[in-house]
Amino acid sequence: MNKKTVLITGTSRGIGFAIRKILEKEKYVIVAPNRQELNLADKHSVEYFIHKNRNLNIDILINNAGINNPEWIQNLDDKNIEESMEVNLISPIKLIKAFVGHMIQNKWGRIVNISSIFGVVARGKQVMYAATKHGLNGVTKALALELGPYNILVNSVCPGFTNTDLVKRNSKEKNAEIACDIPLGRFAEPEEIAECVLFLISEKNTYMNGANIMIDGGFTCR
Ligand SMILES: NC(=O)c1ccc[n+]([C@@H]2O[C@H](COP(=O)([O-])OP(=O)(O)OC[C@H]3O[C@@H](n4cnc5c(N)ncnc54)[C@H](OP(=O)(O)O)[C@@H]3O)[C@@H](O)[C@H]2O)c1
Repeated sequence: MNKKTVLITGTSRGIGFAIRKILEKEKYVIVAPNRQELNLADKHSVEYFIHKNRNLNIDILINNAGINNPEWIQNLDDKNIEESMEVNLISPIKLIKAFVGHMIQNKWGRIVNISSIFGVVARGKQVMYAATKHGLNGVTKALALELGPYNILVNSVCPGFTNTDLVKRNSKEKNAEIACDIPLGRFAEPEEIAECVLFLISEKNTYMNGANIMIDGGFTCR
C-alpha cells in the first residue's frame, strides 16, 4: 500500500481531477483542498491554509490549479495581472516554501508544477499566461538545483491543448482549427497528462529533475 501523502491543487475538474483519480487508484494519501479551503488568488486564504496545515507532512506537491484570461496588452487590467500572478506563480511558490520542510528532513520528495507549452513558447493575448508559466518553469529549474541534493525531484509538465473547461470556452471552429496544427490531429485528454505526472512522482522516477516536459502531440515542434 502506498502511504505517500500528496498535496494537489485544483482537482475539482480538468487535469487536476484526472490526476486525483489516478492517485486514488494508486492508494496515495491525498490532500486536495477545494477553492473554499484554499483560494490561490487570495493571499489571506493561502496564509490561512498554510498555517492551519503547518503540521501536515507532505511528501509530494503538485501545483496544478491555473487560470488563463487571454487579453491584448492594452486591455490588460490590474485584476487580471494580479490574479494571474497569484494563482499561477506566487501561491505555488508559497506552497512549495511551506511544505518542502518535511521532504528535506526525509531526504525524499517530489514536486510537479503543471505549467504549459506557453511556459516555453508564446502567442498573442497570452502575456500573463506566458509570463506566469515561463516563471513557473524557472521556479522548477532553480529548485531542481536547490533541492536535488536532498533527493527532491522537481519537474514541470507542460501540456498542450487539453480537453478541459479551459479550452472548451473557445468556439468549436477555433478549436478545430488549432487541432489541424497539432501533428496528432487532436487535443490531449486530461488522463494523458495525469499518466506523466504519476510517473514523475513515483519511485520509478529516480533521475528526471529540472525538466520541462512538453506533452503537446508535437504542436511545438514546428
Ligand atoms: N487545458 C489545457 O489546454 C491546458 C494546457 C496547458 C496547461 N494547462 C494547465 O493545467 C492546469 C489545469 O488546467 P485545466 O485545463 O484542468 O483547468 P480547468 O479545467 O479550468 O480547472 C482549473 C482548476 O483550477 C482551480 N482553480 C482556478 N482558480 C483557482 C483559485 N483561485 N484557487 C484555487 N483553485 C483554483 C479550479 O477550481 P474551481 O473549480 O473552484 O474553479 C479547477 O479545479 C492549469 O495550471 C493550466 O494552466 C491546461
